[in-house]
Amino acid sequence: MLKIVESPDPLLNQIAEPCDLKDKSLKKLAKQMERTMYATDGVGIAAPQVGVLKRLIVIDVSPEDVRDPLVLVNPEILELDGEPETDEEGCLSCPGVTVPITRKPWARVKFFDLDGQEWEIEGDGLLGRCLQHEIDHLNGITLFESASPRERIKALKAYEEAKRMGAKPGDTSTEARKVR
Ligand code: NI
Repeated sequence: MLKIVESPDPLLNQIAEPCDLKDKSLKKLAKQMERTMYATDGVGIAAPQVGVLKRLIVIDVSPEDVRDPLVLVNPEILELDGEPETDEEGCLSCPGVTVPITRKPWARVKFFDLDGQEWEIEGDGLLGRCLQHEIDHLNGITLFESASPRERIKALKAYEEAKRMGAKPGDTSTEARKVR
C-alpha cells in the first residue's frame, strides 16, 4: 500500500499535470492506487493523494462485496447538472472527519483508459459525487476548500481534534476509530 498524503500537506493544493497516454508506468501506478484504496475502504483515490502530481484517479462505487475499479486517466468534467445537494464526504487525505459538501448531483466526465482509448461516463448519486471529489483533487481542491466558509471552520477544528486522536486514512470519524 502506498503512503497517503494527508492534509495540510501543500502537495494536496497543487494542480496535477496531464498524463502522457503512452506512459507505461501508469498501469503500475493505477494498480498500486487501487490496492491502497481497497486497503483503506475508500471509494476513490486521486494520484496526488499518493504523492504523484498526475491527472489519474481510480474509483469504485460498487457495493462493498463487489470489486469493480475504474481507472480514469486525464478525466475532465464536461457537464454538471441538477439541483445542488448537500451530503457528507470523507477523504483519505483528511482522516477522521466528514464534511457536508454541496454539489450538483449529476456529472458527465470524459476520460482515457490505460490503453489510451477515450470514454465518457455519467451518473448521479455516489458516482456523480465521487467523480467530482476525485477530479477536485487533481485541481488542488480538498474537502476543506469545497466546504462553505462556515463548515470549513468547523471541519478544520474537527480535523485538528481527529489528528490529535490519531486518526488514520480510512477513518471517517473519531467515533468510528473508537470502535475499531
Ligand atoms: Ni479525497
